[in-house]
Amino acid sequence: MTSSSLAVACGDSAFLERAHQLAHELSLPCLECIDPRRVSDVPVLLWLDEAGLALQMTGRKVPGPVRAEFVSGKAGYRREHGGGAGQLVAKAVGLKRASEPLHVLDATAGLGQDAYVLAGLGCELTLLERSPVIHALLADGLTRGAGDEHAAPLVARMRLEAGNSIDWIQTRPGPLADVIYLDPMFPHRDKSALVKKEMALFRPIVGDDDDAPDLLAAALDKARYRVVVKRPRKAPTIDGPPPTTQLEGKSSRYDIYALKALP
Ligand SMILES: C[S@@+](CC[C@H](N)C(=O)[O-])C[C@H]1O[C@@H](n2cnc3c(N)ncnc32)[C@H](O)[C@@H]1O
Repeated sequence: MTSSSLAVACGDSAFLERAHQLAHELSLPCLECIDPRRVSDVPVLLWLDEAGLALQMTGRKVPGPVRAEFVSGKAGYRREHGGGAGQLVAKAVGLKRASEPLHVLDATAGLGQDAYVLAGLGCELTLLERSPVIHALLADGLTRGAGDEHAAPLVARMRLEAGNSIDWIQTRPGPLADVIYLDPMFPHRDKSALVKKEMALFRPIVGDDDDAPDLLAAALDKARYRVVVKRPRKAPTIDGPPPTTQLEGKSSRYDIYALKALP
């Protein structure tokens, strides 16, 4: 994304100092305190208000903010009423078979939603995110989560790192984790409102993750038991060796590359 298509702004002067700091760190312009509905020359804002850091489209009648959220909303509901170890992602990662808590390396962390589900199921997670903007959103969500009594125990199992996972994985001796989990961007046509809103904001910032085959190859080299790739249900597999098995859900599919039996 070019610097003119994203800018930092805030809803109250109380956040001005943090807005300037963030703009400096991310080399973005800072529009200071403004009303996003009145902005016409920047399509998306990195927006700071009392609810935290978010991506917010500008103009009238645009969708609400998108943020990394671990306390309320969908994440909060899922934490309280989640589907447990019967969920497809739990099966894909191998939680039912494992006798000990698994360490999962989520090498495409995004807004941390999948990682949070796995943390809720007892996994220890290392999260890697290469987009500095998405990393900032995720770091903010984790900080807010750490301050909430219900989310804090889960968030404590999620350790966030910045950088390109391909380099991160290749430059460290393996095995790096029991399971390496990948969910790269894919140009799919999911019609659900939430996915559409998040993807419309995400894609110009992170791109299409065209290097997913290199990431898969690196992961296969350094995972202890398996690599799990999340794909849209009808999407082709990532270029490379074929998965050992696939689990299909309503809209997603998990391609499982088994390396060794889980303990
Ligand atoms: C579809 S999103 C992941 C969503 C995530 N599973 C969730 O539940 O919120 C893909 C993310 O992976 C990141 N990503 C893709 N390839 C990466 C790489 N090689 N290293 C680090 N991050 C990567 C992108 O920047 C993007 O934020």
